[in-house]
Amino acid sequence: MDHFNYCDRELYAEGVSLQEMAQSVGTPFYVYSRATIERHWHAFDQAFGRHPHQICYAVKANSNLAILQLLARLGSGFDIVSGGELARVLRAGGDAKKTIFSGVGKSSEEIAFALETGIHALNIESLSELKRVAQIAAEHGKVAPVSFRVNPDVDARTHPHIATGLEENKFGVPFKQALELYRQAAELPAVKITGIACHIGSQITQLEPHIDALERLLFLVRALEAEGIKIDELDLGGGLGIRYLDETPPLPAQWAAALVERLKQFGEHLKLAVEPGRAITGNAGLLVTKVEYLKPGSPKNFVIVDASMAELLRPMLYDADHDIIPVIKQPDIAPQQWDVVGPVCESTDTLGRSRELSVAEGDLLAIRSAGAYGAVLGSNYNSRLMIPEILVDGDRFHTIRHRQTLDQLLAPESLLPE
Ligand code: LLP
Repeated sequence: MDHFNYCDRELYAEGVSLQEMAQSVGTPFYVYSRATIERHWHAFDQAFGRHPHQICYAVKANSNLAILQLLARLGSGFDIVSGGELARVLRAGGDAKKTIFSGVGKSSEEIAFALETGIHALNIESLSELKRVAQIAAEHGKVAPVSFRVNPDVDARTHPHIATGLEENKFGVPFKQALELYRQAAELPAVKITGIACHIGSQITQLEPHIDALERLLFLVRALEAEGIKIDELDLGGGLGIRYLDETPPLPAQWAAALVERLKQFGEHLKLAVEPGRAITGNAGLLVTKVEYLKPGSPKNFVIVDASMAELLRPMLYDADHDIIPVIKQPDIAPQQWDVVGPVCESTDTLGRSRELSVAEGDLLAIRSAGAYGAVLGSNYNSRLMIPEILVDGDRFHTIRHRQTLDQLLAPESLLPE
């Protein structure tokens, strides 16, 4: 459920008219609903009930400081994949002790930075990384809290670009090698084993892949405990899908209940961490864009809008279908099938194909489910300026990222000397 609703013919974000917002900030822009983000976070937190758990929001989904700040205030932990994301979490008031550092290629600087801040865990993805972490920890007089991210070789049944849990993917340590790696880690004095992690992919709309992955991790927990290596925490990653058009993913409560059910045999000693990203911010954001031109024709009709693949890359990168709806409904215009395209000089700059819309030049359209992996994947391609991000809170709104200016775009570059 989200807080973007029509009042008469006009689309509102919570209590704010999007037409009025567009007049004030210009188009295109991202708009997020605070109430929706908070509702989604609480849905995850409550879903695990009394089972010891920590929700670690996946910062990569939407890393705007104000959004991280909202989540930090709720008590959220964070899942990060770079030193930059760690800096964001700290700047937003987040707690490093509730933050998990994932990623296959952490640099020495990033590892040292994370250890300095008192990070909750580093999810290790190779033997080389384990050795590097142990060495850096020893040099800094620290003991590094580590989990291995295990690749359980489970098919997430999602788009191949966002599947991570198969043997052929670069992520995690192979399931078959995990025991031996834990044995080696247990010998290192500068390392403390905290848990086991996995993340099998994103936009997963079924329960089975999550359950299969969990069963495999539990098999490892038992094998490790039999050797005297105690595991305190399971980090099950993120990946729960959302509805873009007609998908029917499990609700957080159904997902959590299925996971907790499998953990019962371990009592409460296995703490859970989960790393939802998309399911918290995805449906809490829209991309609002203006219709520049209509180009009806054969075999296709094109609506040319002022947003593009530079602002929302998902349709191009993952064949993603985002729902596109009018900001003001036009009952007097006959609906037609349109391809919604942007101004970028690429045929792949298509935001939606064959959409039934009643539109006229100057109308505003809202591209839904754009709160996760939207703004963060934005670029300056074609020298387009990064667009504003607005957070609505009841009947007020805050600009949480300003529109980039041409001066800011050009500032980091230099001309050659005469
Ligand atoms: N944890 C780890 C280790 C991850 O790699 C990811 C996402 C998450 C958590 C959060 O997954 P989520 O709950 O958001 O599905 N750009 C793609 C998605 C890439 C996801 C990468 N990893 C998209 O727009 O669909």
